[in-house]
Amino acid sequence: MQKEIFEQPIVVAQTLKSYLRPLEQKVALPQMDFSFADVPRITIVACGTSFYAGMVAKYWLEQFARVPVELDIASEFRYRQPVLEKGGMALFISQSGETADTLAALRHARAEGQKVAVVVNVPTSSMAREADLLLPTHAGPEIGVASTKAFTCQLAVLAALAAKVARDKGVMSEAEEREIVEHLTEAPAAMNAALAHDEEIEAMAPVIAAARDVLYLGRGPDYPMAMEGALKLKEISYIHAEGYAAGEMKHGPIALIDKDVPVIVIAPSGPLFDKTVSNMQEVQARGGKVVLISDAE
Ligand code: M6R
Repeated sequence: MQKEIFEQPIVVAQTLKSYLRPLEQKVALPQMDFSFADVPRITIVACGTSFYAGMVAKYWLEQFARVPVELDIASEFRYRQPVLEKGGMALFISQSGETADTLAALRHARAEGQKVAVVVNVPTSSMAREADLLLPTHAGPEIGVASTKAFTCQLAVLAALAAKVARDKGVMSEAEEREIVEHLTEAPAAMNAALAHDEEIEAMAPVIAAARDVLYLGRGPDYPMAMEGALKLKEISYIHAEGYAAGEMKHGPIALIDKDVPVIVIAPSGPLFDKTVSNMQEVQARGGKVVLISDAE
């Protein structure tokens, strides 16, 4: 798992190579024989970590492309008789491309007349074979049970997809597209910089290791990130953890906070920073220990 964590800058760069044209400063999908201009709605379906990548994509697609997005866990989608709009696109996200619930959901969506797009890491998988639009991640084999590099590669592809949908729908300017391409091009170096904090993270780990319960908080796209962080901690450390939308704390979970419950707050600089910091202060007022993940700014 550690090896795969450290591979992230390289495999994300590898993945982005297929989705960006740096000289023209444009986003381009590898296999594309239709436009997203007329897609009225996107339904995203996945499980586990891939579901959280899908949840981040929902924020991006709605923000950048102004397209309505429905999001479902595959095991719910397949049994809940979802109403799917004619001409809609269903997007399935999977590292393996073989997860039974996601595959069944894909087949259901196809039977309901949806265009099927797939973000998948294993190019020979069932999902890859059954896709109308195949969007591969190039993370290489992910051996660790806990998904790491596949997740960040999924995010890279989904960011490019959101920009492409936005351009096709005419709601993103060339200048905005250029800005996204620049940010994505910088992402591998930014990941390298984040990984350079390894020793500080190791030094801080005993605070978390001693806890029985841990909360993760984030807002906007960092809300699914908080849930993904909590999933990783549960899976790897067997410590109970929950991810919450930071603004939801005061509606109940704040009651859990005391000096024994570390709270990991994901708050990058930007428009939501002050709001998240005020939630962080509520936690501190109750004696909670806070680990803040932010940027230098
Ligand atoms: O292969 P998939 O992405 O379809 O797998 C879905 C989940 O089982 C998977 O993401 C799981 O949640 C992670 N391995 C957890 O780290």
